[in-house]
Amino acid sequence: MSAEIIDGKELALEIRKNLKEKILRLKKAPKLVVILAGDDEASKIYVRNKQKAAAEIGIETELFRFEENSSQKQLEELIDRLNQDKDVNGILLQLPVPAHINGNALLERIDPAKDVDGFHPFNIGLLQNGANKATIAATPKGVLRLIKSVKKDLTGLNAIVIGRSVIVGKPMAMLLLNENCTVIIAHSHTKDLKELCLKADIVVSSTGCGKMVKADWIRKGATVIDVGICRDENGKLCGDVDFESVKEVASYITPVPGGVGPMTIAMLLENTIEAYLKQRG
Ligand code: GUN
Repeated sequence: MSAEIIDGKELALEIRKNLKEKILRLKKAPKLVVILAGDDEASKIYVRNKQKAAAEIGIETELFRFEENSSQKQLEELIDRLNQDKDVNGILLQLPVPAHINGNALLERIDPAKDVDGFHPFNIGLLQNGANKATIAATPKGVLRLIKSVKKDLTGLNAIVIGRSVIVGKPMAMLLLNENCTVIIAHSHTKDLKELCLKADIVVSSTGCGKMVKADWIRKGATVIDVGICRDENGKLCGDVDFESVKEVASYITPVPGGVGPMTIAMLLENTIEAYLKQRG
């Protein structure tokens, strides 16, 4: 039997509708500031999509654009000013930043209470402590929501996270560990990846290697979440997972597009509202 497709687009729409209603009850619109440095084309599209989605539910946004050759000091001064500004609830530094900029130093400079990306070491630490007051990075938070939409209790399940990025893989593993899963973090140096995958009840793949995860890697009945965004040999959008074959083995699977992508934006909006509410006590 073919797997049930987890519809991220539909779940994200429902979340955004609820957030919009929540904002209507607030005294003032939450405000998200986005900082975009450099000319990365994909980043420009991501930022535009984030701003559009925010506006649709009543979050005010402001974009600060910096040239490719901007200095560390210029960015630091802006972050310092935004940290002090009581009207700003969330600050998002779009990644990647230009090569000569120290991105980590900038992320650490953002007030953790305004860190809607959950990339500040303080929030990463809270997540590690299992504290539910941490701001959690949007993509792994969205992935967990997708998994929980079909499986309420993850206790004791074997999970594999393929990819160990700071944005997805590492926080994803921590979230699954906090849900009492037994978690393997696999990466480009992992040996016997196929065998490790075959033991997993939950597979989250975030490598950017198109259709790498094949049907014979997947345990019958597994839940497979695809974070990858790639192009196949015909230039068509695809994920890390060979969807057509894997869906014949898995119980639940996310498509690309329409799976994780829409949830990432919805979770950023949720984080912005949560930041607003925390700041107002
Ligand atoms: N670049 C790619 N994904 C992200 C993200 O989730 N947040 C930020 N700030 N930059 C990104």
